[in-house]
Amino acid sequence: MADFHEFYPLRRHNTFGFDARARFAVHVRSEADLTAALADPRADGLPLLVLGGGSNVVLTGDLDALVLLMEIPGYQPEETGDAWLVTAGAGENWNALVNRTIADGMPGLENLALIPGTAGAAPIQNIGAYGVELRERFEGVRAYDRHTGAFVWLDLRACGFGYRDSLFKHAGAGRYIITAVTLSLPKAWQPVLSYGELARELDGRAAPDAATIRDAVVAIRSRKLPDPAQLGNAGSFFKNPLVSAAQRDALLQANPDLVSYAQPDGSYKLAAGWLIDRCGFKGMTDGPVGVYGKQALVLVHHGGGTGAMLLALANRIADAVQARFGVRIEPEPVVL
Ligand code: EPU
Repeated sequence: MADFHEFYPLRRHNTFGFDARARFAVHVRSEADLTAALADPRADGLPLLVLGGGSNVVLTGDLDALVLLMEIPGYQPEETGDAWLVTAGAGENWNALVNRTIADGMPGLENLALIPGTAGAAPIQNIGAYGVELRERFEGVRAYDRHTGAFVWLDLRACGFGYRDSLFKHAGAGRYIITAVTLSLPKAWQPVLSYGELARELDGRAAPDAATIRDAVVAIRSRKLPDPAQLGNAGSFFKNPLVSAAQRDALLQANPDLVSYAQPDGSYKLAAGWLIDRCGFKGMTDGPVGVYGKQALVLVHHGGGTGAMLLALANRIADAVQARFGVRIEPEPVVL
């Protein structure tokens, strides 16, 4: 019988640190825990919410839902001809997994060091940083399919990854519950130093190994992104918007210092942090919520605020960016 906690406080289960209660919460430590929770009559008719580290959600109020606190452990490397396949339980801490694979001689995840959250949450938004996205190191997931009541394997193609996007945000939303993630780490490892800031951080170091790159990523992130244990936040709050080449050219003419990145399809990604910064929001506070002083893309919660207050600020920011640059920026976290 699953252990249901009623009116369970979620403050420690979301990195913004917002106070909200779940009608029921269950610690899921195995696939058997998961199926038992779903079969429990108390779950009948209640919406489901799966929480990993809670590092990509905004809780705007109490949830009349069954919250599954994903804590399934597991770490299983397997050697193939040209790659290491590493299967991690959905509840494994992502950064600990990065460190463990590097320590075990399987490089490839170093650019993704220090991203908050769990392994099982990583595919939802196809986490990415410093020139690498999860989809480039990905084999597949094992998931429970609520439509069929069976466990399934979803490979790279099935997961439909895009920039901070996947099947699990669209057709698969509410359908699949990820219980394990399998990464593919090629034995022919190549460092990825394409991200200018990372290359500068490593300047002067010949042929850095994975641990050295990891340390550089950790150094950059620690300088620019607040530690959720110290200050409530969910990393980048907005996605970097994609615009056409024509729109980017027009913006560049009016703003010669615009930061943009050419995409393979000819479009451009704009640095949302730069847009927000230019609108004067960096470092501002609005009661208990605000914009981080070292990175305008990060919204912060100083304590005592609500998800609704944060969303109001986010809307003000998006409106100001739209009014000034004609571009709509969209939130990255899931709003509940
Ligand atoms: N910028 C400003 N002002 C700011 C912030 C940024 O002018 O306040 C400029 C920077 O000078 C830089 C550019 O904007 O030229 C881009 O900034 P940065 O390198 O910090 O990266 P980002 O685009 O803000 C993205 C990801 C991060 C990821 C980094 C590194 C998104 C939404 N964010 O941030 O991901 O760590 O690149 O790869 O794609 C996350 O998703 O939670 C996250 C932290």
